[in-house]
Amino acid sequence: MTAHFIGAGPGAPDLLTLRARDLIAASPVCLYAGALVPPEILAHCRPGAHVVDTQHLTLDQIVAELRAAHERGEDVARLHSGDLSIWSAVGEQLRRLDALGIPYTLTPGVPAFAAAAAALGQELTRPGVAQSLILTRHARRATALPAGEQLADLAAHGTTLAIHLGTQAIDEIAATLAPYYGDDCPAAVVARASWPDEEILRGTVATVAGQVEAAGLRRTAMILVGPALGDARGCESHLYSAHRAR
Ligand SMILES: C[S@@+](CC[C@H](N)C(=O)[O-])C[C@H]1O[C@@H](n2cnc3c(N)ncnc32)[C@H](O)[C@@H]1O
Repeated sequence: MTAHFIGAGPGAPDLLTLRARDLIAASPVCLYAGALVPPEILAHCRPGAHVVDTQHLTLDQIVAELRAAHERGEDVARLHSGDLSIWSAVGEQLRRLDALGIPYTLTPGVPAFAAAAAALGQELTRPGVAQSLILTRHARRATALPAGEQLADLAAHGTTLAIHLGTQAIDEIAATLAPYYGDDCPAAVVARASWPDEEILRGTVATVAGQVEAAGLRRTAMILVGPALGDARGCESHLYSAHRAR
């Protein structure tokens, strides 16, 4: 028996990887983080599969499901939204499985920040302007951020920020960013990127909080901020330059 941890992507069923689809179809058990995994992805489960929504379960209850499947000799497809490498809570599950001697694999998925960038039709890096991307999250209702990772610390770099779990604190976020990025710096919010009800708000650090409030937007969303989101004319990469020696 193997527990397959799978990044199920940002929402669109066709943004699932082929490997993920095949593992889901081959596993008699599927545990999924509800709300962010659409029914079309669960449709890949084989008929009669034991399918469990884990959104209201504790870590101990989830591990109990994995252990029970192990004792039955049944593989498990364990689905998380986006990619597994960021805020998926996979690490603590793997540590428990290591202690129990239960084998596992990890399959990456399309992260939400990439789906949000695609929805905006933009790169998040831009030659000469921003060559780094900082993935971070708001701290209000989750684990506190470590020292040195407060939003102001990250904003001091001035590069592109992709802020997760922050829509409900957009006022506070915009106020923190303004001294570093300036009121006119481009900012965008992409709600439910890649879902049929995807919503995109484009504005600036000064306007974005008001736009979110006016739209009544409280759903799963990504906040993107930085000069790279602005007009990219005149900034072309060295990669395809006619002046580059080939
Ligand atoms: C707990 S984090 C999980 C991140 C995920 N592991 C990933 O790779 O994107 C959840 C946050 O990701 C962002 N998110 C997830 N899916 C999204 C989507 N389809 N559109 C916009 N933001 C999304 C939101 O900020 C949400 O609050």
